[in-house]
Amino acid sequence: MDIKELKSMAMEAIFGAKAKATLEEIRVKYLSKKGAVAQLFSGIKDVPPEHRGEYGASVNALKNEIEEAYKAKEAELHKEELDARLKKEAIDLTLPGLSLSKGHRNPYRIIVDEAISIFSDLGFEVREGRDIETEEFNFTLLNVPFDHPARDMQDTFYVDGGLLLRTQTSAGQAHAMVENEAKSPIRMVCPGKTYRRDDDDMTHSHQFGQIEGLLVDKGISLSDLKGMLELFVSRMFGGKREIRFRSSYFPFTEPSVEVDVSCAKCSGKGCSMCKGTGWIEILGAGEVHPNVLRSCGYDPDVYSGFAFGVGIERVAMLRYDIDDIRRIYQNDIRFLRGF
Ligand code: PHE
Repeated sequence: MDIKELKSMAMEAIFGAKAKATLEEIRVKYLSKKGAVAQLFSGIKDVPPEHRGEYGASVNALKNEIEEAYKAKEAELHKEELDARLKKEAIDLTLPGLSLSKGHRNPYRIIVDEAISIFSDLGFEVREGRDIETEEFNFTLLNVPFDHPARDMQDTFYVDGGLLLRTQTSAGQAHAMVENEAKSPIRMVCPGKTYRRDDDDMTHSHQFGQIEGLLVDKGISLSDLKGMLELFVSRMFGGKREIRFRSSYFPFTEPSVEVDVSCAKCSGKGCSMCKGTGWIEILGAGEVHPNVLRSCGYDPDVYSGFAFGVGIERVAMLRYDIDDIRRIYQNDIRFLRGF
């Protein structure tokens, strides 16, 4: 078959192709390794030497032309296919969309964020503690030696390797003091989860959040604690709220106090919320015990300080009048939307 004849046959076939599969057959027939064009190339050996150059050039030209025609057709078929698909798969943009339901911040998180912002304004840094602690940081450094009965009140979950789930964010106090190598003044808060063996009922949970606070400096007294807490309480609960100290006991503070705020519901007159007393307990606190200062590397003759630990859920429940602590953990969006 001569070059001209082959060209017109190939072109006709390519132009007439209506499907990619047909086009592929044509490609194999003309352009593949054993195709018609390749055969023309191998026929060069039968051409007299003086015509071989001319022959080769025209077979090459033929090959290029067929290839170009093939490519153009392929693009055309591809576009047709795409157009057909676009037509078939057209989306009706006028249909109403699906609305995604939005989540909501948990009251627990709202209280933590607000407390952080209040204490940051007062110059406290925020430390992140750890949920898994050593006995040393959770108890021993806090003046609760191995056989101290106070360990029983905070029985907890023990983890392999002598570790435990911390029972109190107070472990964060010890970390702040031990890790401050300069033994310089400290002002820090440390929010986080704590774990204790406890009943799970409307007001108790085996896991709950605390915010620890620690201030260590020269000449710090309980009146500094009181002034700071008054500010915290009025920003957290709004308005002018009274606070009162009741003496208490914690191994790591001396003296120790429990702090009550005047009941918001009855303004101190006495109601069901405050069990008729007009006061609601919100936190434990006190002056840092000299033994704790000493074991964490601070000289108690030079430094003093105060520490406090406030229950996060407790604050949330009081502020938002939540009757059952478990609601805070259930993440029911109908409940969460109320805040
Ligand atoms: N860690 C104490 C508790 O969990 C609270 C507390 C913190 C008391 C700091 C005094 C000082 O009950």
